[in-house]
Amino acid sequence: MSRVMISPSILSADFACLGEEIRAIDTAGADMIHVDVMDGHFVPNLTFGAPVIKKLRPHTDKPFDVHLMIAPVDPYIQDFADAGADILTVHPEAGPHIHRTLQSIRAAGMRPGVAINPGTPAEVVDPIIDDIDLILVMSVNPGFGGQSFIDSQLRKIESFRRKIDACGRDIILEVDGGLTPETAPRAIEAGVTAIVAGSAVFKGGADAYARNIAALRGED
Ligand code: DX5
Ligand code: ZN
Repeated sequence: MSRVMISPSILSADFACLGEEIRAIDTAGADMIHVDVMDGHFVPNLTFGAPVIKKLRPHTDKPFDVHLMIAPVDPYIQDFADAGADILTVHPEAGPHIHRTLQSIRAAGMRPGVAINPGTPAEVVDPIIDDIDLILVMSVNPGFGGQSFIDSQLRKIESFRRKIDACGRDIILEVDGGLTPETAPRAIEAGVTAIVAGSAVFKGGADAYARNIAALRGED
C-alpha cells in the first residue's frame, strides 16, 4: 500500500507569517497544503478567501487542497482557479446544484472534491462519483481546529473505500478533523489515502513539523 498523504491545515498556522509557515511544512514533508475557507455563514467562523491564496501560491509548488465552507460557491469558482487552487472541495449542502458546481470546478481547470459532514450520509456521493477526484470525510463538524475525532465516521470511511474500489476511479479519500498520531492509524486502517491535520502539525515550532508529520504517518 502506498504511503498516506499528509495535507496540513493552515488554519492552525501563525496567520501573521503564513508564507513562512507554508515553506516550513513544504520542507517538513507535506504532500499538499489544506486551505480552509470559511464565510461565517455556512460555518460559524471566518478565515480568508482567494486573494490570500493567490499571495501564498508562490511560496510552494505543492498542490493547494482548498476546502470551501462557504455558500454560495458558484460565484467564486473562477477566483479560486485564478488564485492557484489545485483541488476545490465543496459541501453538497452549500447549494442546490452540486453536479453543476462540480462540472464548473473541472471546467475551470481544478480537481473537484466533495466534503461530507458527520451527519451527512455516504450515499450522497453515489450520483456524483464519476465527477469527483476527492472525497473529504469530516471527522468533526466543520468550523474550528482542535476538535475531537468522531469515531462513528470510521464506518463511513470504510463505506467510501468500498464505493471507490467498486467504481475503479482514482479518487483521493481524505479525512479531516481531530487527526492525531492516535486517531490517524484508525483512519488509515479504514481506507483513507490522505490525512488533513492542523493542530497536530502546527505545534512545537517549525523545527517540530517534520516530526509531527512523520508521527501522523506512523513513521516515528
Ligand atoms: C475544520 C477544518 C479542518 C481543521 C482541522 O473545519 O476543516 O481542516 O483545520 O483541524 P484539526 O486537525 O486541529 O482538527
Ligand atoms: Zn478542512
